[in-house]
Amino acid sequence: MYESKPMKNKYRDLIEQTFDFPQAEFQLADNQLHFHHIDLNALVKKYGTPFKFSYLPVIGEKIDLCRQWFQNAFEEHNYKGKYHYSYCTKSSHFDFVLKECLKKQVNIETSSAFDIDIIIYLFNQGLLNDDIYVLCNGYKTKEYILKIAELIDLGFHRIIPIIDSFDEFEILDEMIDTPLEIGIRIASEEDPKFEFYTSRLGIGYKDIVPFFKKRLKGHPKFKVSMLHFFVNTGIRDNAYYWNELRKFINVYTDLIKADAPICHLDIGGGFPIKNSLAFEFDYQYMITEIVAQIKQEAESVGAEHPNIFTEFGSFTVAESGGTIYSVVNQKKQNDKEQWNMIDSSFMTTLPDTWAINKRFVMLPINRWGDKYERVFLGGMTCDSDDYYNSEQHINAIYLPEFKMNDPLYIGFFNTGAYQESISGYGGIKHCLIPSPKHIIIDKDENGAFTDYVYREEQTSQDMLQVLGYR
Ligand SMILES: Cc1ncc(COP(=O)(O)O)c(C=O)c1O
Repeated sequence: MYESKPMKNKYRDLIEQTFDFPQAEFQLADNQLHFHHIDLNALVKKYGTPFKFSYLPVIGEKIDLCRQWFQNAFEEHNYKGKYHYSYCTKSSHFDFVLKECLKKQVNIETSSAFDIDIIIYLFNQGLLNDDIYVLCNGYKTKEYILKIAELIDLGFHRIIPIIDSFDEFEILDEMIDTPLEIGIRIASEEDPKFEFYTSRLGIGYKDIVPFFKKRLKGHPKFKVSMLHFFVNTGIRDNAYYWNELRKFINVYTDLIKADAPICHLDIGGGFPIKNSLAFEFDYQYMITEIVAQIKQEAESVGAEHPNIFTEFGSFTVAESGGTIYSVVNQKKQNDKEQWNMIDSSFMTTLPDTWAINKRFVMLPINRWGDKYERVFLGGMTCDSDDYYNSEQHINAIYLPEFKMNDPLYIGFFNTGAYQESISGYGGIKHCLIPSPKHIIIDKDENGAFTDYVYREEQTSQDMLQVLGYR
């Protein structure tokens, strides 16, 4: 006789059978999803959907984690240089993000003139001091260089503009009168799958040593102290990355041999973030290996171990953010395709899903004990590209079955980097679908969660103002 086993057809079964679950940041309580033990369903009930949230403690935890990995690597290899965590502001410029970062005394990487205004603001508020490193990347317009000069006048003495082209150096030379450290950005070769061969950002490998000898060696004002590189695909354990890193280190040793005073290596941003429940990445291994390679090559040319800088943007802030929607309806377009329609737009709230087919962790907030079904997810704009499905997701999308009278809420997680600046937070929006409200979640001194509305949902008046209907 068979003993009949219970059917494993609940959403919860699906996830538990497919992934290691629960995970550090995702737990279930009563068939509802908690994120870092935050009861998301309670937030949905309190604030309604759609909303974005930022959970601040994650930011400091990431910075601590990364510093610990570098410390471990330095100890393992008896590395004598220093590690400098720098936050890349372009991944999220919000005041609450910068303030969290500054609690950890990070350095800052900027990309444009307005970024420097953020630094001046924070300085005037007493939230940062003038001995942080300010790494100025990005295209140096005259306005940007004037702002750099303003920072120098305010007493900032660790500003390192990172030269992106020969012309940029000449303009800097004309406009800045004081002694200054500068960096050079190496233009990496793009990933072979990419449509360009060499990055448009930075100076080609072969041109750097001749440029140093011709224009920088013995320069009366500028000391080249930093070499910088950033690989578009990010830091990954693949042949492409290791190959680019090797070329970068070779330029460094060639510069040392040419008597360049380089004492800082900036390995850029691009540390990956968790984009699915199956995500695996050995951060410690990558850092240890990078440190080992830098040490070996520095010693081979008799140089002191250089200081290592990183400019992690996504890694710092992405996993602090999430976006919650309701499924408001289901449209069955044929036997195979049923569309769960959300109460907002993917294109405008998570533009990377549309622009670069980016994946995020997507999970229902409630009804994990219900049967599941395969669906597509559609946004509210009338644009046929406003969707999220298996092209962007790791697999087909499964969610608890749609029921008209039993609301289903879904969350996209680790969305805290770039989505706001790329979508133009608070500006006009495709089909005038408003920016959702934005909730900040934090912990108080007793470890209890606190939450408040940082920004209300955009109003019609807001948008009409931008459009000139005043
Ligand atoms: C020069 C530079 N540094 C750092 C970053 C941050 O990259 P990520 O957010 O992947 O860490 C970027 C991103 O474009 C960059 O261009």
